[in-house]
Amino acid sequence: MKRLIAPSILSADFNHLHKDVMLVNSSNADWFHVDVMDGVFVPNISFGFPILQHVKKIAQKPLDVHLMIVQPDRYLQEFAAAGADVITVHLEACTHIHRTLQSIRSLGIKAGVAINPGTPVHALDSILTDADLFLIMSVNPGFGGQKFIPSTYDKVRQLRALLDDSNADALIEVDGGVGPDNAEALFDAGANVLVAGNAVFKADDPLVAIERMKEAQ
Ligand code: DX5
Ligand code: ZN
Repeated sequence: MKRLIAPSILSADFNHLHKDVMLVNSSNADWFHVDVMDGVFVPNISFGFPILQHVKKIAQKPLDVHLMIVQPDRYLQEFAAAGADVITVHLEACTHIHRTLQSIRSLGIKAGVAINPGTPVHALDSILTDADLFLIMSVNPGFGGQKFIPSTYDKVRQLRALLDDSNADALIEVDGGVGPDNAEALFDAGANVLVAGNAVFKADDPLVAIERMKEAQ
């Protein structure tokens, strides 16, 4: 089973973004996780196209773009053009999720669906084979550095069973409060991609933190 680590640049040092991107390039991490927030879907605003374009110029790993925005359909093409390799939209922000997933795939990139801690896994039942990735939020989205919500383990196990039952090969990603201490338990529950912001960029040694999560496999 695929097991990947995706450091979230939301927790990077924006005065030295180049240095932090290079650090991830030089590490064993697999993807860059890029959090876009609009101040409407979530109570925070992060960054948009200019940052994404700059990261894309120097990143040597795929960009996993997590859109915490309303009406994401309006911007899919622009995010793909800016360099997204995966675009994940929130189920709660999409009236026509099936159509949105088709639109993302038609841009030639991977399509993901995220669910908030308050959204049940069964809300994904009808689209299990229509996405390349399902992101289970393990904190309420909006900020880095929050505490992991333990009921996430059950949600990961539930989703793993549903995907297996329907022969769907989508990846399961977990995002929020993830780090070396819970990485192994999440991989064991059936997760494939672990996002880590503070656990990487606020660590004394980010490379060691990434390595510890990689070793959790
Ligand atoms: C939260 C974001 C996360 C965030 C994770 O809304 O979606 O990707 O960067 O940060 P940590 O790992 O610090 O919880
Ligand atoms: Zn995220």
